[in-house]
Amino acid sequence: MKLPFGTFTITEKSKELIQKILESKYVTCGKYVKKFEDMFAEKHKVRNVVAVSSGTAADVLGLAALHSTGAKRGMEVIIPALTFIATANAVMHAGFKPVFVDIDPKTFNIDPKKIEEKITDKTLAIMPVHLMGKPCDMNSIMRIAKSHNLAVVEDAAEAHGAVYRGQPAGTIGDMGAFSLYVAHIITTAEGGIITTNNDHYDEILRSLRSHGRACKCKTCILNKGESYCKKRFSNSYGDSRFYFERIGYSCKMNELEAAIGIGAMQEYDEILKIRRRNLKYLMKAFREFPEIYTFEEENYETIGPHAFPFVVKSDKFTRDQLANHLEKNQIQTRTFFASIPTQYSAYSGYELGDFPHSENIGRNGLHIGVHQDLTLKHLDYMIQTTKEFLEKF
Ligand SMILES: Cc1ncc(COP(=O)(O)O)c(C=O)c1O
Repeated sequence: MKLPFGTFTITEKSKELIQKILESKYVTCGKYVKKFEDMFAEKHKVRNVVAVSSGTAADVLGLAALHSTGAKRGMEVIIPALTFIATANAVMHAGFKPVFVDIDPKTFNIDPKKIEEKITDKTLAIMPVHLMGKPCDMNSIMRIAKSHNLAVVEDAAEAHGAVYRGQPAGTIGDMGAFSLYVAHIITTAEGGIITTNNDHYDEILRSLRSHGRACKCKTCILNKGESYCKKRFSNSYGDSRFYFERIGYSCKMNELEAAIGIGAMQEYDEILKIRRRNLKYLMKAFREFPEIYTFEEENYETIGPHAFPFVVKSDKFTRDQLANHLEKNQIQTRTFFASIPTQYSAYSGYELGDFPHSENIGRNGLHIGVHQDLTLKHLDYMIQTTKEFLEKF
């Protein structure tokens, strides 16, 4: 029995669409990207959705859009020390400086009690990360942001299907960034989404993903763009496709990726249902192992079933010994992420010990899959294999 960490759902509908798109020879960002955006917006009950080439690009654009409302290069963005590296890199790529805050070990998410002490006169925004689909304490974060006049850009890369007090994670702050990378719940192979209820940011994001073009892509995709743009720029330059209002990026989603996403969106509820069942099943079983701990689901939230994270708390064996045992028995594992400022050489200026809870996860955390191809029989095998290992100590 070989149990991979992730899977990839490609539906018959997607295959048909891909064929049609290839035959049409129109493969760059167009009507299918728009359709995918609309489907994603409807599911997440959000007004605007902008599809891009990766979750990292979504993070970068969400932050870069803040330049349009007065942000200056070098301003600071508060992020958790424990997250995938892309969160910190995105802050840098958008022209800002990441300021790290330790996590709450119970939730694996940024500890809101430690945010205010990191706020300075240069702070621009907070970027909470709903790690492993567990929603952050958004009430506290939004309260802090409001009282210090900060923007909130949620990194919801792993939070498809997560709900916080009735609102989908990723739609609570000014913007939310999702990843559609292959192991994620809804995937386009590679891809990303930015959500926003703010029409100004929507227009800026559409411009930023396409080199800073001065055009409302949403309108262009409906084939009204040429006349819209011509009218708008009739006094400036002839071809609006080559008129640029700001310094942008090149990270549009393409039609083939959108076709994969459209098929996946049609299966979204079913995928979520299976993954939720799997996550809850593993959470319940692993709760019986005293050498391991994981997060809990509170009654005001739904955890997005991205994966099953857990942390070794025994000094009789190491995380790596457990991981090796699982791998030897064909269960693919991933280490949890680590403390970006102190456990990766990519970032410097901090000392080991500055972020103790994040560092502990960096040493002792693991995660395994809960994806839609895993049956209860597979999960029982994962549980049994873990139990066999633990019984040796
Ligand atoms: C928390 C977090 N942020 C950002 C990203 C970046 O997404 P992508 O790999 O699609 O660029 C990921 C990717 O898994 C992630 O887990």
